[in-house]
Amino acid sequence: MPEAKIEAWLEEDREFTPSAAFSAQANAQPSIYEEAGADPVAWWREQADRLTWTTTPTKSLEWDLPNAKWFADGTLNASVSCVDVHVSEGRGGRVAFHWVADAEGESRTITYHELHRQVCRTANALIELGVTKGDRIAVYMPMIPEAIFAMLAIVRLGAIHSVVFGGFSAEALGSRILDSNCRFVVTADGAFRRGTASPLKAAVDEALKSCPNVSAVLVVKRTESDVEWVPGRDHWWHDIVERQSDVHEPEAFPAETPLFIMYTSGTTAKPKGIFHTTAGYLTQAATTYYNVFDVKPETDVCWTAADIGWITGHSYIVYGPLINGVTQILYEGLPDSGGRDRWWKIISGYKATILYTAPTTIRTLMKWGHQIPEEYDLTSLRLLGTVGEPINPEAWMWYRKNIGGDRCPIVDTWWQTETGAILCSPLPGVTSTKPGAAMRALPGISTAVVDDAGNPVGHGEGGYLVVTQPWPAMIRGIWGDPDRFFDTYWSRFPGKYFAGDGAKLDAEGDLWLLGRVDDVMNISGHRLSTTEVEHALVGHRAVAEAAVVGASDETTGQAIVAFVTLKLSAEDAEKDHAALIEELRAHVASTISPIAKPREIILTPDLPKTRSGKIMRRLLRDVAENRSLGDVTTLTDPTVVNMITGLMDTHASSDD
Ligand code: WTA
Repeated sequence: MPEAKIEAWLEEDREFTPSAAFSAQANAQPSIYEEAGADPVAWWREQADRLTWTTTPTKSLEWDLPNAKWFADGTLNASVSCVDVHVSEGRGGRVAFHWVADAEGESRTITYHELHRQVCRTANALIELGVTKGDRIAVYMPMIPEAIFAMLAIVRLGAIHSVVFGGFSAEALGSRILDSNCRFVVTADGAFRRGTASPLKAAVDEALKSCPNVSAVLVVKRTESDVEWVPGRDHWWHDIVERQSDVHEPEAFPAETPLFIMYTSGTTAKPKGIFHTTAGYLTQAATTYYNVFDVKPETDVCWTAADIGWITGHSYIVYGPLINGVTQILYEGLPDSGGRDRWWKIISGYKATILYTAPTTIRTLMKWGHQIPEEYDLTSLRLLGTVGEPINPEAWMWYRKNIGGDRCPIVDTWWQTETGAILCSPLPGVTSTKPGAAMRALPGISTAVVDDAGNPVGHGEGGYLVVTQPWPAMIRGIWGDPDRFFDTYWSRFPGKYFAGDGAKLDAEGDLWLLGRVDDVMNISGHRLSTTEVEHALVGHRAVAEAAVVGASDETTGQAIVAFVTLKLSAEDAEKDHAALIEELRAHVASTISPIAKPREIILTPDLPKTRSGKIMRRLLRDVAENRSLGDVTTLTDPTVVNMITGLMDTHASSDD
């Protein structure tokens, strides 16, 4: 699409207001901001009535910074709010999931009634394996219904799931299992990606060599691939779950019972185990799903195209949608499994009404061409969402026009693993939208954009995004590391939660997110720390030193560029550089995940450092993005920069 055309569009057609009919029927009406703003804590207490309580809470918020307790004297069982209540109130026949396999033609329909039976059976199987309240259980699964049965069964027992994205390596999985001392693992033999089976159980076996406390592994047979078996430890799902009773009486747990741990990258090499508790998290996941996605459970078919291995899958495939009792699509494959039209086949086939995805996917679909979706009837769609990274206006406009038919509001939702649920987003039918803007904090949420000194900036100015009041789904801690919890989020601006994102208020006071201000990179919406990748690189025998930066990338938002100095053994000196670079890229992929594979590795005899010995990352980012270099007077050896720039010019970037 020619630049001038986009410019013109942005000029003319910048804002988008949904139709009067949409607004009239929207779940959220304009008065909601005022209602919530008058007394946010009381408003959240009312929202907590979306849950099914065993003991109704009389308390709302207890706040002793940085520790929050929400609805603390209430008791409930998370899986009852997600599943049992729908069956007991006569909605058991409603479809909870249309599961769509990687391979075309393979699918499964799971009603709420069936979901209830499966969750009860899985809970009974976990009891037989020895799971009790408070145990941590790693879930390392493909996008199959059993992953959701497992998550819900775990929380039904008051145990804590730690879902690890199936794309992570054995080493990454092992370190997460160890960090929270998981005693159980739920996995599958393998996963399908574009028709090819890749192993998962093998990575679990490898990881468990360093995790002696894991006593049982529950394995779903998905791909029929050969697996090694440790008798006594390993159990097939079909052997143990299927023979269990469909009945399981849920116990009620206090509102602040830990619900799950989700590892995410911070600024150090070691990922942080963010943990969330039950009732506050569930209340906000359910409320935001209702208001931001405007769901009508009787008629909508919702599709959050994310993996359950990330927070988006937790909050907007599992907890938020199930509490609302909606019908969803759960898709196992990639956007091009079976062809580049696969998504549009699914949407038109199931008459999906709501689609939630990441900018990086939109850019990929855009690259494949508007002709592909044009072949399909997408008129069932009525709302689109995006999450994970700032969306560029071109992608936003493409999404609105080609997928949403200029009819569907787009909700650009800003949030984090730590926030648990959406904090900033337009409300469809209430807030007008602008391409690339998250617009404003949701009802009941208080945010600000502040300068270096912590003072709010004015309209038209930029700064750091902070949250100024506690919110129900907020992070309750970093597993096993309370000091790091305080230091990371609460020490930068006293009294305020520091999100780590840069943001700007436009002339009208609407919020635009600008990306991370720390050493966290955002690669296709996945968070990775520069140090984590550097750590993996220096773990290779040939690497002396490594500096990693996130450089902007047209498709993936940011891409990893690594500058590496070598300590060559006789064996490596024989290899040509291209072969060594490939080896290093593969090494990072196998140490962390293929997501972390550097787009480029530049071998350099030295790295630019300040006089105090700190690597000049900003300058390396400029080099990686081909920008002019600015002030380099504090460099110990300015010739290093010239040399690196020269290397960049001659370096051919790789394309996978
Ligand atoms: C970024 C994902 C701009 C941001 C739910 C944040 C966004 C990080 C948006 C959290 C958005 C997420 N616009 N940036 N709409 N949504 N981000 O923990 O940098 O995987 O800090 O949670 O993604 O990533 P996480």
